[in-house]
Amino acid sequence: MDSFIINGPCKLEGTVRVSGAKNSVLPVMAASILTGGACVIDNVPDLRDVRTMMKLLDVLGGDSGMEGGTATIDTAGIENFEAPYDLVRTMRASIYALGPLLARYGRARVSMPGGCAWGPRPVDLHLKGLVALGAVVRIDHGYIEATADRLLGHEIILSVPSVGATINIMMAAVLAEGETVIENAAREPEVVEVATALKTGGAQIEGEGSSKLVIKGVKDIKPFTHRVIPDRIEAGTLAAAAAATGGRVKIEDCRPDHMHAVFDVLEATGAEVETAGECVTVTGAIEIQPANIETGFYPAFPTDMQAQMMALLSKARGASTISEHVYPDRFTHVPELRRLGANITLDGSVAVVSGTDRLEGAPVMATDIRASSALIIGALMAEGETKILRVYHIDRGYERIEQKLGSLGAEIERVKD
Ligand code: EPZ
Repeated sequence: MDSFIINGPCKLEGTVRVSGAKNSVLPVMAASILTGGACVIDNVPDLRDVRTMMKLLDVLGGDSGMEGGTATIDTAGIENFEAPYDLVRTMRASIYALGPLLARYGRARVSMPGGCAWGPRPVDLHLKGLVALGAVVRIDHGYIEATADRLLGHEIILSVPSVGATINIMMAAVLAEGETVIENAAREPEVVEVATALKTGGAQIEGEGSSKLVIKGVKDIKPFTHRVIPDRIEAGTLAAAAAATGGRVKIEDCRPDHMHAVFDVLEATGAEVETAGECVTVTGAIEIQPANIETGFYPAFPTDMQAQMMALLSKARGASTISEHVYPDRFTHVPELRRLGANITLDGSVAVVSGTDRLEGAPVMATDIRASSALIIGALMAEGETKILRVYHIDRGYERIEQKLGSLGAEIERVKD
């Protein structure tokens, strides 16, 4: 297992480019199953999760490859319809194979994704939606078994604007007979991206990005080419790191229009945020100001940025509150930040961060993708050496993070344990 050794404190300064979005490329790769042909996807980040999705597509019988940020996925050879537990347990986005396999082949057997570091990650809304389209779904020894002679369009109302459920149901509905309406659909940019890729392949979808999706089924989806949008969470993480270290960083190839809620909070902490086209320049405050954060569904403040902002606020001049409305237990980073000297109290799904003058380097443990990046931010703010264990978590969601931060002046080194 690899670890990071980080010596702080440091000011991040310079220019850095954002990679393609993990949470967009994964469902777009799965959508290639619908085409039965060769799809080309550009601006693909080289992440563990991308490699895992490629492995899953190959296990199904597809043929995937990646060269210099371009992935080519040929799904003509798919003849196996099972996503095995040993892959799904490492990446819950494997659930995205369910809708496309069911829609194209009429059957799918996908391991239940189980929970993650911070708690349960249900898929009931995915299954309810597929049943509404006419699928027969049963759970057999920890696997979701879904069959459908044919899928029929239907109106589906999501009790929660789930990103995964919206995308999975949409990917099934594009080949269903008739019209499907998804009410209370997720509005995330990643949903828009999957719709865009599918429409390139001939799908008929309207309303993507709004809470009402209307999908008219078509006979088939042609192989598509697609360029992945910049990763708004990686961009937000780099922006938070710049602000947390009192530095000044220009972030290129990002989508400021996807990041308003994050920018609002950064400005509340006293950082300066200047956007220009596909760039944003973040200048950290001399003194970080406290802020109050409520996570929510897009376009509200993203839960995937909660841990990173908590690290930043641990050195604010005063107390901040962070209310986690999407995943109430998403606080596995708290005990680790406390090891760096952060003063954080938890009351249910609300964290109170009492700012301190000083953080001190210490050995800490990464527990999930975003918690890992919060520990990196904490380490960049802390005095002395921090060792972050289990950085395979960070490799799942951040491409070449040590090179990017190193180019901005961070003292960060990857070591083999
Ligand atoms: C996606 O997960 C992201 N993952 C997550 O990012 C992100 O935190 C999450 O959306 C919320 O924005 C990917 O895109 C691969 P949801 P997803 O379904 O789709 C409840 C990261 O770090 N729910 O939108 O699984 C659920 O419990 C990861 O990159 C149900 O109740 O999230 C949660 O409270 C972590 N039943 C809420 O909906 C369901 O069937 C939002 O979950 C599905 C979800």
